[in-house]
Amino acid sequence: MNKKILITGGAGFIGSHVLHLMVPKYPDYQFVNLDALTYAGNLENLKAIEHLPNYQFVKGDITDADFINNLFEKEAFDGVIHLAAESHVDRSILSPMDFIFTNIVGTVNLLNAAKKTWSGQFEGKRFYLVSTDEVYGTLGKTGLFTEETPYDPRSPYSASKASADHLVRAYWHTYHMPVILSNCSNNYGSYQFPEKLLPLAINNIKHNKTIPIYGDGKYTRDWLWVKDHAEAIDLIYHEGKTAETYNIGGHNEWQNIDLIHLLCEIMDEKLDRPKGSSAKLITFVKDRAGHDRRYAIDASKIKRELGWQPSLQFAEGLRKTVDWYLDNEQWLENVTSGNYKSYYNQQYAERT
Ligand code: NAD
Ligand code: DAU
Repeated sequence: MNKKILITGGAGFIGSHVLHLMVPKYPDYQFVNLDALTYAGNLENLKAIEHLPNYQFVKGDITDADFINNLFEKEAFDGVIHLAAESHVDRSILSPMDFIFTNIVGTVNLLNAAKKTWSGQFEGKRFYLVSTDEVYGTLGKTGLFTEETPYDPRSPYSASKASADHLVRAYWHTYHMPVILSNCSNNYGSYQFPEKLLPLAINNIKHNKTIPIYGDGKYTRDWLWVKDHAEAIDLIYHEGKTAETYNIGGHNEWQNIDLIHLLCEIMDEKLDRPKGSSAKLITFVKDRAGHDRRYAIDASKIKRELGWQPSLQFAEGLRKTVDWYLDNEQWLENVTSGNYKSYYNQQYAERT
């Protein structure tokens, strides 16, 4: 079946994995990757697939309504998988406005352009928003986020993602736009920008720099291998039910401090350093403002309805991830040069 699909944010962490999976898998589809190439977007992430005839890159900003309308008119997309976003919670605390523009206004621009070009002819069309578990707020010691958990976002990032989710659903209820959503837990794996906990810690350990742990380190996240998320996105896009939401998670909860201890053990071994040397770099620093205590996903709906479940055991995934960052030294060097340094200094200088 010939389809043209717009992937937004395809030069980022998860988007690049979605393209790595879907472009070779669906040679009859045309994929257009629309990305503004912010600090988080990197075309190096797409080297393995950029030569394929069914792949095309367009540089552009989803906050630019005229640009988006023209692109939709020209390309007549059948479907949209929308991943482009400002995605880092700490940056949203420093500078919320970028999150409002990209995550909310950008999403509405895409919805409007799809609505206009599809003009009520929704057969075979689909608008898929890739969202986060952070929209549900925070959990106590027990319980899981289900698709019915009330929204309670608590950071500018999660509030902007929650707004986008509500708007996407509003376009279904109001205009019958065929939408679908998923809300996923923390991803880990290759091509993740080293502002996020795991690649930041790997990079710091490698350079014998301190590993900043916020607060008491007992904050809990549910970690999922990014390739499993990409598989889930492909499945939801093709098999999910219109207007439904699917939670995606790893059944894999870790307190940050335990996760970092495990990482330190792996790093000592991989870097051939004496046992315990990486752990000496752990440094407790000032907490994140409004830090959500615990996230954990009930992913039983996607398992029951679509047959998806995580494929990889965490111990193996974490080792693979460490190997990737150590083998791809140049990638890490490229993304941590330039602006990265000033962000890092601003974010961490006053914490220690
Ligand atoms: P990322 O920050 O690595 O990538 C975001 C991409 O969007 C970058 O390539 C960037 O250049 C692009 N972008 C940003 N602003 C843009 C704009 N105005 N116009 C066009 N492109 C723009 O993010 P990620 O971690 O890959 O996350 C992708 C999506 O998945 C996001 O919507 C995020 O909320 C969601 N999500 C992420 C995680 C996670 O653990 N990383 C978990 C659940 C959901
Ligand atoms: O849950 C899904 C979300 O996961 C996504 O929607 C976000 O886009 C993604 O960034 C991620 O958000 P987190 O805030 O959970 O990820 P981060 O890697 O920033 O932090 C993970 C945990 O580690 C969190 O409790 C904060 C803590 N942390 C983070 C950094 C960067 C530290 O202790 N030290 C650090 O230096």
